[in-house]
Amino acid sequence: MAAAESSTGDLPLREKPVILSESPEVVMAQSALFSPEESSFPFFSLLEKANQAAVEADLPRLLERILQLSLELCPSRAAAFYLLDPVSGELVCRAVHGEALRPDLIGKNLVAASAIEQALQQDRLGEIEPVDQVAWWGAADVHGFKPGKAFVAPFTLAGQPLGVMVLFDCTQPRPEHLQFLIRRMASEVYKAGQLALSRQRSERLDAMIAIFGQIGSTLDRDQILRMMVEFARQVINAEACSLFLVDEETGDMVLHLASNVDREIQPVGLRVPAGKGIIGDVVQKGEVVLVSDAKRDRRHYEGVDHSTGFLTQSILAVPLRSRQVVLGGERGIIKEKVIGGFEAMNKIDGFFTAEDTQLLVNLANQAATVLQISSLYTDATNLFFDVVGALTESIDAKDPYTEGHSRRVCDFSVEIARQMGLDAEVVHCIRIGSLLHDVGKIGIPDYILTKPGHLTEQEYEIMKQHPAIGARIMSQVRLLHEELPAMAEHHERLDGAGYPKGLSGEAISLAGRIVAVADVFDALTSDRPYRRALPVEEALDYLGHRVEREFDRQCVDALVQAYLRGVIRTQKERELLG
Ligand SMILES: [Fe+2]
Ligand SMILES: [Fe+2]
Repeated sequence: MAAAESSTGDLPLREKPVILSESPEVVMAQSALFSPEESSFPFFSLLEKANQAAVEADLPRLLERILQLSLELCPSRAAAFYLLDPVSGELVCRAVHGEALRPDLIGKNLVAASAIEQALQQDRLGEIEPVDQVAWWGAADVHGFKPGKAFVAPFTLAGQPLGVMVLFDCTQPRPEHLQFLIRRMASEVYKAGQLALSRQRSERLDAMIAIFGQIGSTLDRDQILRMMVEFARQVINAEACSLFLVDEETGDMVLHLASNVDREIQPVGLRVPAGKGIIGDVVQKGEVVLVSDAKRDRRHYEGVDHSTGFLTQSILAVPLRSRQVVLGGERGIIKEKVIGGFEAMNKIDGFFTAEDTQLLVNLANQAATVLQISSLYTDATNLFFDVVGALTESIDAKDPYTEGHSRRVCDFSVEIARQMGLDAEVVHCIRIGSLLHDVGKIGIPDYILTKPGHLTEQEYEIMKQHPAIGARIMSQVRLLHEELPAMAEHHERLDGAGYPKGLSGEAISLAGRIVAVADVFDALTSDRPYRRALPVEEALDYLGHRVEREFDRQCVDALVQAYLRGVIRTQKERELLG
């Protein structure tokens, strides 16, 4: 091993390690360093105590016992154990013991690391010069604990550094005893570390299985994404997690969902300008970014911290990639693009690990898939409604007096259904069925549809076929079978005097009864070539006098209630209010 003095010449004075020994053998020869009481702590006693401590498989408790044993061996004011984080290369506090050293140091990185890291890399015990408070503890509160000197005892296994134990103001360092203890315990520390890692992986796997079970229980896009953000924060053990989506028009990143440890809701909708911040970098380059000290990273956009009051220290950010089918000229080509980013901030117990990164990347892929499916579903639904809307409008438009009729009957039917407290799925079915209720008029000659006066008996018989025609046409659309009764039965009457089938009472579907009320209410409150629109009160009176005979009482009552709540507007009211 090279002489330590020559390798420390360029370090700042306060960080210079004063190496006490080059190896335990050399230490043995440097008798001035040893206490005359050395022999009072026999090695066999140390071995016995070390063996007792070694049965502890839990990493924090094992480190605690090593610290206790070391303090017993080498009286000191306090001691701390730092383990090397394999991803960040930082030394992270994992156990403390003794005067004033607070457990909240656990998870914090060692600020005065360079001299200690050097001792660790060179695998040699030694004392380092006193360093100032901030250099030791950073911003952590240690109740004014100011150590003088620190004795550093590196732990390595097969040449690989594991971590360091630091004894503060040690009055009796026993390097050879410590070295003996380290040799006995290094493999135990490694094994306990591996066990902790394995437990963490197992817990994460269980959590993943649980979250994917939950995700499968809903189709609500934002509910799924919220579960993912909350899950990521808990499993990664971060103070906060956020999901940003790119605004396609401006390129800004918009905070879509956030979860933080205090369950405070961060201002969703907050915008980060295009290309700004670490999230902007992630979106632009499509790469994972890991920042252990955000303040020192020039990409960090403080606008978010200012708006949220959140103090970002470390960030793990991954892109959200979505594959999209490009329509048009390049039909069928799948194009991948970054649609946002997923961020975890402020790891609570140390640094973001490679496993945290992998987990967040996996969740980001899942989230992107959810967004993609949701977007396809929205597009398909919009397309469907547009087509149905265009179809019904074209039928209504044949007669200027029925323009907008299907849309209004749809609106009224939906409000009646809601007022009756029907399930969302039933309401959806009634929405489509009522919009299409008169689609069968497509098979009725125009001269009948647009005849300004009363129809002859023969013309009326033809007109009465439109419910059956509509149901027959739409029966060819497999996804619309639930909606057929609204088309087929909206002119049936409870007393059986309706058409086309003359169904009565409960034989008429609920959808048919609802649309019947909505249909007549719109006809009465709209202008017709042969009469002016009736006032709402008269129209409701008309319906009220025909309950049980023509119309379902519950449906008429629901219409009245909905009208009184102001959620129903007749043709005349729409014309007046715009
Ligand atoms: Fe009709
Ligand atoms: Fe109608």
